[in-house]
Amino acid sequence: MSTAEITLTIPTPDDWHTHFRDGEILKAVVPHTTAQFGRSIVMPNLVPPITTVDAAAAYRERIKAAVPAGHSYTPLMTCYLTDGASPDEMERGHREGVWVAAKLYPAHATTNSAHGVTSLDAIEPALSRMEKIGMPMLVHGEVTDHDVDIFDREKVFIDRVLSEVLRRHPGLRVVMEHVTTEDGVAFVRANPDRMAATITPHHLVLNRNDLLVGGIRPHHYCLPVVKREKHRLALRKAATSGEKTFFLGTDTAPHAIHLKECACGCAGLFNAPTTMQVYTQVFHEENALQHLEGFASRNGPAFYGLPVNEGTMTIEQKPSTAPERVTTNDGIDIVVFKGGEALNWTVTRSS
Ligand code: DOR
Ligand code: ZN
Repeated sequence: MSTAEITLTIPTPDDWHTHFRDGEILKAVVPHTTAQFGRSIVMPNLVPPITTVDAAAAYRERIKAAVPAGHSYTPLMTCYLTDGASPDEMERGHREGVWVAAKLYPAHATTNSAHGVTSLDAIEPALSRMEKIGMPMLVHGEVTDHDVDIFDREKVFIDRVLSEVLRRHPGLRVVMEHVTTEDGVAFVRANPDRMAATITPHHLVLNRNDLLVGGIRPHHYCLPVVKREKHRLALRKAATSGEKTFFLGTDTAPHAIHLKECACGCAGLFNAPTTMQVYTQVFHEENALQHLEGFASRNGPAFYGLPVNEGTMTIEQKPSTAPERVTTNDGIDIVVFKGGEALNWTVTRSS
C-alpha cells in the first residue's frame, strides 16, 4: 500500500523537445527518456544535421533500437532547416510520416547550429510549403547579432524575426521552443490559435544567479541562457496556468562532462532522469497539481493533432533520488540535473 501523502495518476506524458545525440551517448540516454515518456519530439541538431528523409528514418531506427524492452515509446522526428531547404523533400518526409515538424535554428545560435538559417528569405519557399501542408515550425527563438546582449536575444528575435514570420505566413503554426522570458510568454498568449511554447524544467527552477553567483556553474549553462527572476516567475505562472498553449519540453541536452567543465563549456542540461519529479515539484509549489496533466500529457498532443497516450504514470509524494551521472559504454560521464539530490516525488510508468 502506498504511504504517499499525494498520489496522482495521469496519462503517460510526452516530451516535446528532446536531444538524444547519436552513438554511445544515444544508447546511454534514451532509456532515461523512455522511462518517463510515451513519445518525444527528437531534435535534429546532429553532426551533420538531419536534413534528409532518409537520414531521419535511419536515425529513428537507431533510437528505437536503444529503447529498453517493456517501454512503449515513439520517437517523432524533425527536419533541420537550412538555407535553401528543399520544400519537396520536406513535404515528402511529412507525407511519409517521418517528419512531424521542422526546426529553425538561427545560424550559430546554439549547439550544432552552424548549418542553421541565416535569413528568412533563405527559407521562404520551405516556410510557404510548411504553411500549405500543415507542418509546424519549431523555433529556437534567439538572434545571434553580436551587438545584442545575450539576455535580450529572445525578445529581439520576437520583434525582428518571429513577428515577421507570422505576418508573412498567416497559416503557419509555430512552437516557441524553451521559452525563457515574460516577453515570450506574452507573445505566445497573443497568438493562441497558431502558437504554442514548450517550457523546460530548468528554466522553471533556475535564474541567472544560479548560474553566476558564488562561482560559475557550467551545469546550469544552457541556451537560451537562464534569465532574471521575474522571467522565471512568469514561466512558472504560464506552465501551471492550465492554458493549452504551454506544454512540456525538457530540452534534455546531454554533453560529456569534460565539454561542460572547461574554459568554453557547451550549452545544455541533461535532465531526462529527473524531469517529472522536478516539474511535479514546481506544480506543487504553485498549488497547481490539477494542471500538471494538461501540461505534461494533453496540451502537446492537442497541438500536434495526436491522441493522448493510453498508458499511465503514477506520481507519488515519496522521496527519491536519481544518479549523479550517467556513464556511456565507452566511459563518458554525463552529469544529471538534480542527480544525487533529494527529490520529493517518485514517478512510475505503468505501461
Ligand atoms: O542548452 C541547449 N542545448 N540549448 C539548445 O538550444 C541546444 C541544446 C543542445 O543541443 O545541446
Ligand atoms: Zn533543444
